[in-house]
Amino acid sequence: MPKYHVTTFGCQMNEHDSERMKGMLESLGYDEAPEQDGADLILFNTCSIREAADTKFAAHLGNAGRVKRENPGTVIGVGGCWAQSVKEEVFEQFPFVDVAFGPGQVHKLAEFLNSDSLTAQGYFEFEGFTGDLPARREREFHGWTQISIGCREVCSYCIVPSTRGREVSRDPNDVIADVAAMAEDGVREITLLGQNVNSYGRSLPKEQRITFAELLREVDAIDGIDRIRYTSPHPKDIKLDVIEAHAELPSLCEHIHLPLQSGSSALLKRMRRTYDRERFTDRVRLIREYVPDISLSTDIIVGFPGETEDDFAETLEVVDETAFDSAFTFNYSPRRGTEAATFEDQVPHEVKRDRMARLVDLVQQHATERAQRFVGRDLEVLVEGRSRKDPDKLRGRTRHNKVVNFNGLAEAGDMTTVKVTSATSQTLAGEEPLLARALA
Ligand code: 5AD
Ligand code: SF4
Repeated sequence: MPKYHVTTFGCQMNEHDSERMKGMLESLGYDEAPEQDGADLILFNTCSIREAADTKFAAHLGNAGRVKRENPGTVIGVGGCWAQSVKEEVFEQFPFVDVAFGPGQVHKLAEFLNSDSLTAQGYFEFEGFTGDLPARREREFHGWTQISIGCREVCSYCIVPSTRGREVSRDPNDVIADVAAMAEDGVREITLLGQNVNSYGRSLPKEQRITFAELLREVDAIDGIDRIRYTSPHPKDIKLDVIEAHAELPSLCEHIHLPLQSGSSALLKRMRRTYDRERFTDRVRLIREYVPDISLSTDIIVGFPGETEDDFAETLEVVDETAFDSAFTFNYSPRRGTEAATFEDQVPHEVKRDRMARLVDLVQQHATERAQRFVGRDLEVLVEGRSRKDPDKLRGRTRHNKVVNFNGLAEAGDMTTVKVTSATSQTLAGEEPLLARALA
């Protein structure tokens, strides 16, 4: 059997796409190789969101080049957002690459592998949902499903609209069939994926059109799915119907990732986010009114062009008022072809570094404080496997999306109860009450 090796960079959509690449390759008779050495097909699913992503990937690709020099029959493929953003230049920059394809062209890889063509090929037009390909899931009990591809927004810092194309929603019947099939196959937790899940349905023909909230209700009704997550919603589009769904649907988890980006309305305008500080904090208020115990996470960009000390102070204020359960913080990085990369008032590196340190401090403080509300509670935990730091312990995730390391007897894929005994900004610790009683 020929062997493949896939390295994945970037976001959850890429993790999803890689699972589908693997599923497709296995249906073509390929088997997974544990490392690049020894693989007949070496694939990279790339990301281009920040400069650091590009640099990291170039080093990995160098290693694949070495494998190919030692074994010239090896086929090297580069897919995903970076490939899309540089298109045919891939072959000039890295002459040993055989095939390159964008995120909407994963299925073309099969065509390439089955063709007799030995010349380099690039495929970059959107043609179909990667979600329609078979999947080889990393975790048996967790499934990703693509509800839309592409993005209809024009955030001035973001490369994604150019790499993933215009927004297209997937037929709700296909989404439901995909989730139902995964449920049959043992999946307990599902994550719905889209660049802006709240705008789901808008690009569908009238007779198929349903809203994101309606889609959530349909997925909730599928037997066997105990947990639903989704990423990401857009603060301008998150409406009462989705918030009510959180309050009402038993399987919809108590966690929302709501990307703030900046707390300054002036900066949000330059970012073309189409909401302001008040709208964001109003959404948070509404969410907490309906689901008081919800976990909120966010993304924040530091040092966007033109960010003044006052703008940054507003970000700190919103972070302080909102008290997020966690936050991903990024230094602004200019991306090719984006509007913000042409802005002249780029923020110096040292200023970014100083603001980032202050932001991270505040974020950590709130995350630690917020996590204390779980101490003493019995929480439902989906077991993922052994703890990474301490193999005597188990590791799982709560509905609030908190990682828990705990003493217990459960196995990966089990849904168990854990009594939380302590909490840090990142993780909870605890034990299964049953185990505690058995040992007492
Ligand atoms: N620079 C820094 N961070 C960025 N993000 C997107 N584009 C950039 C950029 N050019 C961040 C945003 C987004 C997350 C996925 O990555 O915060 O929500
Ligand atoms: Fe995901 Fe964005 Fe990276 Fe593409 S560029 S892989 S959409 S994070």
